[in-house]
Amino acid sequence: MRRSTYFLQFPVPPGAVPAFESLGAAQVVEQTATAVRLQAGSAAVEITALADDLFRVGMFGAGRPREYRSEGVARVDWATAEARIAVEADEVRIETPRATARVALHPLRIGFRDSEREFATDDEKLGMGFAPLAPPASRLVDPLGSPAIVYKRHEPGTHYFGCGERTGSLDKTQSRQVFWNFDPPAQHTAALNNMYTSVPFVLGLRDGRAWGMFVDSSYRLEFDLVNEDPSRCGFAIDGGPMIYYVFAGPTPRAVLERYTELTGRMPMPPRWAIGNHQSRWGYKTADQLLEIARTFRQRGIPLDAVYLDIDYMDGYRVFTWDAERFPDPADLVRQLGELGVKLVTIIDPGVKVDEQYRPYCEGRDADLFCKTFFGDEYRNVVWPGLCAFPDFTDPRTRTWWGEQLPALLDTGVAGIWCDMNEPTVFVPTPQTLPEDVTHHGDPNAVLHAEVHNIYGQLMARATHEGFRTLRPEQRPMVISRAGFAGLQRYALHWTGDNTSWWEHLAMSMPQLQNLGLSGYAWVGVDIGGFTGDATGELLARWTEFGIFQPFCRNHSAWNTRPQEPWAFGEPYESHIRKMLLLRQRLMPFLYTLFDEAHRTGAPILRPLLFEYPDDATTFATDDEFLVGRALLVAPIARPRVDYRHVYLPRGTWVHYWSGERYQGPKHVLAHAPLGRPAIYVRANTPVPLWPEMAYDGERPPDPLTWLVFVAAADDGSAELYEDDGEGYAYERGVSARTRVHCSVSNDIELRFEAVEGSFASTSETLEVDLRGLERPTQVLIDDSAAQAWDYADGRLTVRLPGGRAARRLTVRAAVA
Ligand code: GLC
Repeated sequence: MRRSTYFLQFPVPPGAVPAFESLGAAQVVEQTATAVRLQAGSAAVEITALADDLFRVGMFGAGRPREYRSEGVARVDWATAEARIAVEADEVRIETPRATARVALHPLRIGFRDSEREFATDDEKLGMGFAPLAPPASRLVDPLGSPAIVYKRHEPGTHYFGCGERTGSLDKTQSRQVFWNFDPPAQHTAALNNMYTSVPFVLGLRDGRAWGMFVDSSYRLEFDLVNEDPSRCGFAIDGGPMIYYVFAGPTPRAVLERYTELTGRMPMPPRWAIGNHQSRWGYKTADQLLEIARTFRQRGIPLDAVYLDIDYMDGYRVFTWDAERFPDPADLVRQLGELGVKLVTIIDPGVKVDEQYRPYCEGRDADLFCKTFFGDEYRNVVWPGLCAFPDFTDPRTRTWWGEQLPALLDTGVAGIWCDMNEPTVFVPTPQTLPEDVTHHGDPNAVLHAEVHNIYGQLMARATHEGFRTLRPEQRPMVISRAGFAGLQRYALHWTGDNTSWWEHLAMSMPQLQNLGLSGYAWVGVDIGGFTGDATGELLARWTEFGIFQPFCRNHSAWNTRPQEPWAFGEPYESHIRKMLLLRQRLMPFLYTLFDEAHRTGAPILRPLLFEYPDDATTFATDDEFLVGRALLVAPIARPRVDYRHVYLPRGTWVHYWSGERYQGPKHVLAHAPLGRPAIYVRANTPVPLWPEMAYDGERPPDPLTWLVFVAAADDGSAELYEDDGEGYAYERGVSARTRVHCSVSNDIELRFEAVEGSFASTSETLEVDLRGLERPTQVLIDDSAAQAWDYADGRLTVRLPGGRAARRLTVRAAVA
């Protein structure tokens, strides 16, 4: 473990190197129904079963309180797990119906197992312990408490995924991962493993069985995933108690479900927020922004929201408007609204030090800003010049921050974009707050080093909570660049300043997949790339990928070539339009996946291994992914290339454009010229679609289409989730869930279950669009002949009135 910087106030004696001291023998001091408390030397250790498949381990240095409160954790009230504790001379076991924590006492080593395997088992030699920077007598050099490490045995064959926002490949085995929120130097490369957010969570996978481990520390962390030593992993924290959670799985889905129960799930977003968004650091006037929105409409390109970057502010003062360039923000919002376009505005944490500026004076007078170690207001330079930084650990600061939001929300702004919240400061070079800055908020004064990784999340939380207070009936739309485990409760995350490089298009895919495996379901990268100049081909290819990102936004920096969908002319504009229209059509499918993420934590854009953990080929499918279970997407991420390799896992897959069927597992060469990205649909799996729309709510979604590529293959099923796309009625059950099953044998049968929930769908007509069949001899709805159907070229469309009752569509036709 290397401390990133040492404290100026506490010089480390020359030659002092952290030396790992493993815990020795332990004694049981207390036992409850689900927990065992031990003493090992000066450390107190507690192991608790929180649920059948979830254990918590806490190691607290001498005199440190047993405290699990954390910004990362949403759920603390675990109903008592069904556990049995066996205490023997050398060993304690906490057994739940599904897994066992096995605690060897001489020396203390903790491991986990279920009926099939062991996982997250301490390395026999090293186990868990502290790595003091200097002899304990000189505690002064170590104000954070000693760094702590837990070493886990690497079971050969295990692969590691997750770790939140990363560069590099999907599989993190044999890597070292640092967690210290940071605005990385421009042009993220694979050498960077430390970015804007920190999610110290890893998913292990071996022989088709998954487990998870989350180290809940807001200090700097490092994971060594079989990098230093082929036989083990090391999980290190820079101070504070070592608290970690182990998830028994055994499927990735089960791990994610529990992990997001612990750290929280995403509330349902307003539906417009998953449409197409356009941004640029460079939209400088109200007229320019309106012109952009109008151009989308004139060119028939879908658009749900436009963004204002820092240029709307008065001298970059947060919560202000430039009076000349934005004379009437409410009128701007109104005019955008007439076009069906919402407005999202950026905010930064740095508050300009300016005696004439109300937010600064208020914050200073109420003592809400971070301080230097010596008690002065901490200041550094960001966009507005010298700034003070709100101490978001203080609940008073968060409330005050929320109270500033009317400057934006009262004009009708629909979403808030939290940027630079690692936080980033510019002097002497772009970096973050010094570690000895102090936060005096909640409830004790702490050093920045202790809370650094949660600073950005607390800003997002303050923004989200302020939004909810001001608009209790609206779903907040908050974006955050920085965050910790659990950011999903407050905000979506976008991955900051990528570059218009093909390499970054490629990098985005494993990046978003690992974010999805780390509890962040609503994520996206800047489509087209932020810095550097895009080309038409790059933007078109990026959009082919971007329409499948849960967050779909084109954003670029002021000093780059314009990057709007039409910026590079034809043929690119037409390809991009076609893709964005496809995203609009997929809206009910995507919205249903948002509901799944909201309820279960399952990623929207997900790696193949999420569905096929027993298929090791999927561990390396960095450049393709699933959207839900129904779609497999394999974007092209190289210039002037029309063909690419695609791995199709087991099952029957149908090429979206040609209808060609493939039996997986299979490696295929896909022909994917511009405008025809390699998309495969799982056979017999219905996909709900809306008609093409310019924006959410343009008109009623009629008809609602169920698209099914039929094949002589396994039965398929799907769900459709609907609600009014806004507000909180859904929490009171005002939603609708429709389940559809498709089977293909002698007949093709589509069975709709009765709709659940009280939301009345706005689609009056239901259309079934079956692909890949011969001309039917008969089409029956609940055994009566259907009147309205068309057949041509292997495609049958049947229209029926919408409705809530169960029904069955039987098509007497052979598969083509
Ligand atoms: C940061 C953000 C970027 C934004 C810029 C100006 O670099 O990541 O998206 O455009 O600041 O506000």
